[in-house]
Amino acid sequence: MTAATSTVFAALPIDETIAESNSQEIKVSLAARSYSVHVGAGLLAHTRLIAAHLPQPRVALVTNDVIWPLYGKALADALAAANIKVIPIILPDGESHKGWPALNMIFDALLEHACDRKTTLIALGGGVIGDITGFAAATYQRGVPFVQIPTTLLAQVDSSIGGKTAINHPRGKNMIGAFYQPQLVLADTDTLITLPDRELRAGLAEVIKYGLILDETFFDWLEKNLALLLARDPTALTRAITRSCEIKADVVANDERETAAEGGRALLNLGHTFGHAIETALGYGTWLHGEAVACGMLLATKFSHSLGQVDAATVTRTQQIFAAAGLPTVMPAISADDMLHHMGRDKKNDAGVIKLILLKSIGAAYVDATISADHIHAFLTAEPRLQTINA
Ligand code: NAD
Ligand code: GLY
Repeated sequence: MTAATSTVFAALPIDETIAESNSQEIKVSLAARSYSVHVGAGLLAHTRLIAAHLPQPRVALVTNDVIWPLYGKALADALAAANIKVIPIILPDGESHKGWPALNMIFDALLEHACDRKTTLIALGGGVIGDITGFAAATYQRGVPFVQIPTTLLAQVDSSIGGKTAINHPRGKNMIGAFYQPQLVLADTDTLITLPDRELRAGLAEVIKYGLILDETFFDWLEKNLALLLARDPTALTRAITRSCEIKADVVANDERETAAEGGRALLNLGHTFGHAIETALGYGTWLHGEAVACGMLLATKFSHSLGQVDAATVTRTQQIFAAAGLPTVMPAISADDMLHHMGRDKKNDAGVIKLILLKSIGAAYVDATISADHIHAFLTAEPRLQTINA
């Protein structure tokens, strides 16, 4: 611990210990880059936990204009009260701002305040803030520490864990980025109280994904407890978030950079090849990421059925859980040509071959790189379409 960190510690109230909360701790085991994900109510108040990870008592708090008044100002004040200098960086909200101009706003502020390599970047917000802040942390002065404080369900179960950071390019989702792990993830489940319903449902898509790809028992539990989750029952939500984080941490620990020959991290992309194409084709933010991925996961399940991998009952169960979660189960009006055009730029592709994540059963996903573009085109052509682009 550095002298600066000790000063930070000394300034904190003595009763503020993580042990006092009912939080869960999940380890992401990556040798020197290992870190903990804490899940629980009231964690935002645990500034001591953040302070313990700071190499110097100075942070850049990156958030957006929606989160700042809800949680950002209070966190900045709490950190300042603990003698930590806070540089707030408040970006415009939304997926359409996950690009170069917002990224440059972060770099401009860091340079304006002469931030050095020991300044920690804190990402407070959903996946957009987490991804862009992580990429800024990976590249500012070739890498500075960063902490993820996810405030959406989607970010708490998925994007804050695993070190994928990125911005979008007009021609493709997350096309510019880096693998860069945070020092700590703090998922305060209390922040979900203010989350709009549509965002909660979008987050549930990624929760359901974990059941579909790797854990049938979890999928069964989700089917039974969906109403509680939609009603934001704290116990059910914490259980769903914790199980999702456990699965993600395990997958990432075994295949950090998505290079495994079989399965591995690529499985987390179930529905994403279709989903990213939908997001890009409609324009970023038209459908939420979770909505596009839910529709994509159902398409992947139907495709698996067309190959004889899963039975019709599995398609029905998948369709029903997404419908019950209020997520789209019918494609928007995008032509098969346009879908294929965008799918051709997917990051998983190898030498122009599209890799699809498909299902053998609920809880058992696999990677298939043998499907021709013509085959996918024929499948998509036959799929029904919504009459509007709205989810
Ligand atoms: P988001 O970051 O746009 O947040 C959704 C909306 O909710 C925003 O308007 C935000 O301001 C608001 N919000 C956030 N927290 C709130 C709260 N507690 N109360 C009220 N409003 C709140 O969207 P998201 O769904 O969190 O993230 C989607 C992004 O995550 C996409 O860009 C996607 O590509 C990315 N992603 C990344 C990974 C990864 O591994 N890095 C994984 C999945 C998704
Ligand atoms: N969300 C996909 C991944 O983290 O790999």
